[in-house]
Amino acid sequence: MPINFTGQSKLHVAVIMDGNGRWATERGLPRIAGHQAGSESLRRVVRAAPELGVSTLTAYAFSCDNWKRPAEEVDAIMALLAWYLADEIPRLLEDRVRLSVIGRRDRLPEALVAVIHQAESATSGCDKLHLRLAIDYSGRESILTATGQCAGRDVTMERFEQILAATNRGGAQPVDLLVRTGGEQRLSDFLLWECAYAELVFTRRMWPEFTGQDLTKAIHDFRRRERRFGDVPAALANRPDTHSRERWLH
Ligand code: IPE
Ligand code: IPE
Ligand code: MG
Repeated sequence: MPINFTGQSKLHVAVIMDGNGRWATERGLPRIAGHQAGSESLRRVVRAAPELGVSTLTAYAFSCDNWKRPAEEVDAIMALLAWYLADEIPRLLEDRVRLSVIGRRDRLPEALVAVIHQAESATSGCDKLHLRLAIDYSGRESILTATGQCAGRDVTMERFEQILAATNRGGAQPVDLLVRTGGEQRLSDFLLWECAYAELVFTRRMWPEFTGQDLTKAIHDFRRRERRFGDVPAALANRPDTHSRERWLH
């Protein structure tokens, strides 16, 4: 069934790319093979996203809590991320995808930080899709950092959202749809503020098996839902969208 783009077509979709380790273990492979396969899923999803009306895709690659994992796995993930970004630059340019990385940088390996800068500056003029990769990211920490910048000031909700967007680099708008693969039904500290009114889709499919088709299905599901933002359905039909992305800084 073709997707009906009437109504909102510039979606912010967030994905919690979970299940890499289990996917690999089930196949008798080392967990890092799952992360490697997961990087190919991300490539597929980035390719599929613009035609589905997605203008921003924020993908959770590594959380602040993921540092708890064995050093061997963490090192391999860091190396894989650096390799992925370096390898991806020509494809991002070809597909007009702007890349931003959100999260802390002070604990990342220098080589990864260097390639992040390289990918961000190479793709800064791209306008078809904004891909935000969350690396060493924590929603709680982002909110705490933004709050620190408000100290002693009486800030409005709008101003706070602007400060939070700047804290995260690469801006932010409210998340419209959050998809989590791997079967768990939790946020794991991802985009806590931005997901205030996000529609949630949880799938049992492991991230390495997630395809553009699965994203299409999730967006179909999203488009069938009625978002009320606390209002009554009838009022929504006659009112401009008060949750529009104009309120958010890019
Ligand atoms: C998500 O997959 C990727 C990262 C957190 C880096 P996992 O590695 O959490 O995979 P599972 O949940 O153990 O299967
Ligand atoms: C969330 O997955 C982080 C990423 C996908 C990068 P986790 O596997 O770390 O989350 P928990 O531990 O199951 O909550
Ligand atoms: Mg996991």
